[in-house]
Amino acid sequence: MVHFLIVGLFTLASTYGLFIILTGPNVLPMQASAQAIPIDEMFKWDFLAVAFFYSLIVVFIIYSLIVFRRKDGDDDNEYGEYFEGNSKLEIIWVLIPLGVVILFAYLGTQSLGEVLRRDPGALEVDVIAQQWAWRFEYPETGTTSNELVLPENRQVLLRLHSEDVIHSFWVPEFRVKQDILPGGEEFIRELRVTPTVIGTYKIRCAELCGQLHYDMLANVVVLSKADFSFWLIEQSGECSEEAAICGEKLATQFACLACHSLDGATIVGPTWLGLADSTVPLEDGTTTIADASYLMDSILNPNAQIHEGFLANIMPQTFAEQLNDEQITQIVAFIESLK
Ligand code: CUA
Repeated sequence: MVHFLIVGLFTLASTYGLFIILTGPNVLPMQASAQAIPIDEMFKWDFLAVAFFYSLIVVFIIYSLIVFRRKDGDDDNEYGEYFEGNSKLEIIWVLIPLGVVILFAYLGTQSLGEVLRRDPGALEVDVIAQQWAWRFEYPETGTTSNELVLPENRQVLLRLHSEDVIHSFWVPEFRVKQDILPGGEEFIRELRVTPTVIGTYKIRCAELCGQLHYDMLANVVVLSKADFSFWLIEQSGECSEEAAICGEKLATQFACLACHSLDGATIVGPTWLGLADSTVPLEDGTTTIADASYLMDSILNPNAQIHEGFLANIMPQTFAEQLNDEQITQIVAFIESLK
């Protein structure tokens, strides 16, 4: 009896200590969405169960090692008490885990319901992932951005699609995560999140998606409702600046700069620094001059003339649908401004 009491007390003390450490302030990232609350609540129950069962096993083993060790004067030939089967114990160790599993299934269903709850007034944002960048489109206003800008305390319905391979949308502070699939309308995945804390966070691609997967990051900026409306108005205007400046904005939005550097470095595609009007060696051994029509062609039909030392099929072949003639002219003007 005294053994049970001591093991019990140590188990409770150790459970308490571990639980305090596991739920401490620096274990999980900050909580910045309404969905994070039920998810963290589940983490708390998980941590409690883990702390208890870990403590129970470790305390029991350590206690037995110390208290029931071989002592001076023990008879080496003496055997421990032998018993075979114990129906009562077996029933207990089936029923307790069963109860725990059922309890967790119940808690999990509750918190999943909470996380998936739909708000009919949600703001819709299309999230387009591609190797290795993010683009965000706001269908209500026709805005396109390379940062995910969101209002505080309003549910957002993210409609996720990919231009190429499987990616995954993950903002640790929001807790929610969703794979993003290529393949058009029927493969669009939805994710709902209600940001609750103004600030800037990072979207991290959480699916290994190729060479620059580690660098597939984008900012999430949560603004007050008023600042968000202001941002939308600011974004809505057509680009009225010089062609090259509009081109630079487009190159950022459409993630051209994820693969083409502006400083002469080779990332995945040729650098844009000094590209315009230079002599370009091609894979087939010939050369060509990178004039406006070559640059335009390379955007619309990237596999037609491959720059020596680079691979075909790396650059998306979708820009003919995504960009209009004016936008392409603007991007070319931007490249020409870099010679
Ligand atoms: Cu996209 Cu990893």
